[in-house]
Amino acid sequence: MRRKLAAGNWKMHGLAADLAEAEAVARDHPRPGCDVLICPPATLVARAVDRLSGGPVAVGGQDCHKTEKGAHTGDVSAAMLADAGATHVIVGHSERRADHGETDADVAAKATAAHAAGLIAIICLGETEAQRDAGETLAVVAAQLAGSLPEGATAANTVIAYEPVWAIGTGRTPTLEQIAEVHTALRERLRALLPSEADGVRLLYGGSVKPGNAAEIFAVADVDGALVGGASLKAADFGAIIAALDGAPAA
Ligand code: 13P
Repeated sequence: MRRKLAAGNWKMHGLAADLAEAEAVARDHPRPGCDVLICPPATLVARAVDRLSGGPVAVGGQDCHKTEKGAHTGDVSAAMLADAGATHVIVGHSERRADHGETDADVAAKATAAHAAGLIAIICLGETEAQRDAGETLAVVAAQLAGSLPEGATAANTVIAYEPVWAIGTGRTPTLEQIAEVHTALRERLRALLPSEADGVRLLYGGSVKPGNAAEIFAVADVDGALVGGASLKAADFGAIIAALDGAPAA
């Protein structure tokens, strides 16, 4: 059985005062039936860990470099995130793929670095609107999965997040049938790529998840939780999404 995961990606939002929202999530959901994760900006990871340690909310990074250390001004390594107390790191978010030209091979290397540091890698993939309109969605996500999944990926160290690029921050979401189609296809591809692990790997949906649509999305087969952007910034919204996930059918 896959334990569900509600993960918040704060992106480039959040100053120290905003950690009160993360603390409120922990206070309001002391014993969630799912895993809860907040990925604040790198500047807040250590402070978030200090404020949340011992509670139900884990802390993750939003990206890591593929090497452990070196002359890479401005970058953060997986080892540094782990040292700060993070347990997870997002890799291959479409904003990084677009803004920084990250390829599937880069993402796989980052996931390998995450695993070497003892972090759970949340590997993101998803099609653009043009790719969906061209009928390429399943081929695109299958290729991204095959190219971004590193050697040594297991159900314990890897989470996959399906985030259609056109649904991120837009208020638009795929239909439930479209989400089901992609998640079912990803599960099938995982069975081919990682036969002994595939059924344990959690598949998150991301892209305009809100309190108002979370329950119906979480009822879709093979949706094991969400990667939430904007709605993870406020405790009331993220808390409502956690509650919806707690009430969702078991995987
Ligand atoms: P929104 O929930 O703001 O659409 O962002 C989704 C996302 O990109 C999470 O990584």
